[in-house]
Amino acid sequence: MTTVAARVAPPRSASARVSRVIDETRHAKSIVFEVPADRTHDFTYRPGQFLTLRIPSDTAGSVARCYSLASCPVSDDELMVTVKRTANGYGSNWLCDNVSEGDIVDLLPPSGVFTPTSADEDLLLWGAGSGITPLFSILKSTLATGSGQVALVYANNDADSIIFDEQLRVLAARHPNRLVVIHWLESVRERPTADQLARLAEPFADRHSYICGPAGFMATVRDAMASLGVPRSRVHAEVFASLRGDPFAQRASEPHAPEPAAESDALATTTAQVDTDGDTHTIDWPRSQNLVEAMLAHGVDVPFSCREGQCGTCACVVVDGDVTMTDTGVLDEDDLEAGYVLACQARPNGDFARIRF
Ligand code: FES
Repeated sequence: MTTVAARVAPPRSASARVSRVIDETRHAKSIVFEVPADRTHDFTYRPGQFLTLRIPSDTAGSVARCYSLASCPVSDDELMVTVKRTANGYGSNWLCDNVSEGDIVDLLPPSGVFTPTSADEDLLLWGAGSGITPLFSILKSTLATGSGQVALVYANNDADSIIFDEQLRVLAARHPNRLVVIHWLESVRERPTADQLARLAEPFADRHSYICGPAGFMATVRDAMASLGVPRSRVHAEVFASLRGDPFAQRASEPHAPEPAAESDALATTTAQVDTDGDTHTIDWPRSQNLVEAMLAHGVDVPFSCREGQCGTCACVVVDGDVTMTDTGVLDEDDLEAGYVLACQARPNGDFARIRF
């Protein structure tokens, strides 16, 4: 157990070199990053997590955008995100038009909770378009490290839009008894209905589902699984909200960690034990501060990005105690039921809380 005194928290972003840019389809590119050797520990990740990239902007100086990692933490040596152009999407178009080998991009460490609990678990994955990205990481990790069987339903406009088409074929051929890939092409069959997806899902309905794609697709999958009687707790969706603020800019304007609470506030504090990075930190958590503020004030490194409840980077679990959130933000019903809270929105209620990141 580590009890820490107040100190300045270290900077969390890293300047990574682009080692390769891969044309995946006409509208999608993968960007492979080399993280500085002294920061690799901060950039270890779980399958299904995402990176936050700093993207230059003439009007705002820079903006932050989140992209899922398509690489597998076990079988791939490098970090790779895959970006598909979206109509009027500033970040995706800027990256596809401007990034090339040798460029330096500022990154925040991997975040997110869209990760299966075990690689031995059987999975039903649902992807549409670039929604394949975190699912590709999840399926590679499951096949590489566990015994779980994976069924992937992958919807695209047409055959030319399929990202990782060849790699999926190779994996399916290598793992014929563990991986099934079902393509749905709208050019051939139009947009899928909930009834059609329910028929596809029936043989796999006892598995946990992981969905990533446009909101309409995710809603259709949820309807399909509900029609099969699958509880919401077994259907997990990856939701990216646009960040209103710029977490990189916030850090630049915050050279010092927040001050510990004033003495009067100290009367209204909770003792918090926070498990993060394999350590347990014991801190005073003033009821006037959210958990991100309290951890920074005590010099404890805490994962955060937007500080607005929108990105999910600071998601953690309340193991013991009671906290209230100003805004539940990106957390859905299932996340809340599972005990997740957002540290940037959470304030304590009782005398003691135990939190796990
Ligand atoms: Fe983005 Fe808390 S930092 S949700």
